[in-house]
Amino acid sequence: MLLFREQVPAEWLPGVLGNLPAMLVDHAHLERKAATSAINLENYRDLYSRVEELNAIAAEELRHFQLVLDLLKQRGIPFGRPQTSPWISGLMRSVRSGQRHQAIDHLICAALIEGRSCEKFQILAKELLSIDARLARFYDSLVESEGNHYATYLLMARGIDNAEADRRLDFYLGLDAELIRRPNPLPMLH
Ligand SMILES: [Fe+2]
Ligand SMILES: [Fe+2]
Repeated sequence: MLLFREQVPAEWLPGVLGNLPAMLVDHAHLERKAATSAINLENYRDLYSRVEELNAIAAEELRHFQLVLDLLKQRGIPFGRPQTSPWISGLMRSVRSGQRHQAIDHLICAALIEGRSCEKFQILAKELLSIDARLARFYDSLVESEGNHYATYLLMARGIDNAEADRRLDFYLGLDAELIRRPNPLPMLH
């Protein structure tokens, strides 16, 4: 179902496993940003009719945010400052302006972020089993939801303009493949 052209680099997994507390703080921010992103999408004229679906996604992301905050508390990890993801900023920098173009690009970027999260949560669910089974189960429990967000955002973009959404998806898949190969030394999800 995921359309990515490049695999998650091999060095990503040992990087995050080597500093799970930092990854969990980054994950908390990722869910917080996913909630705000869903609410920001409600600003586009082409998405006014989808406001309730977007609200539902925002509410789900806020629940995920709370679940990660609960994990942090259980593990005595303080919530801290967000780090900037070069991969996410690289994608978002290419969002064009103009109502319709911007809405399509923003939706596709949001879809790719959800899709990569879904993929990485699957990897974590598998690899954490022998290290931290509770955390493995937690990541497994999020996979379906993030996969649904990926599909919903892509369908929303296609609902605005199918041909344009496919053109931009092609562009963004190329950009994702280029950006994901750039090393990020920080223990971040993206
Ligand atoms: Fe989420
Ligand atoms: Fe999500």
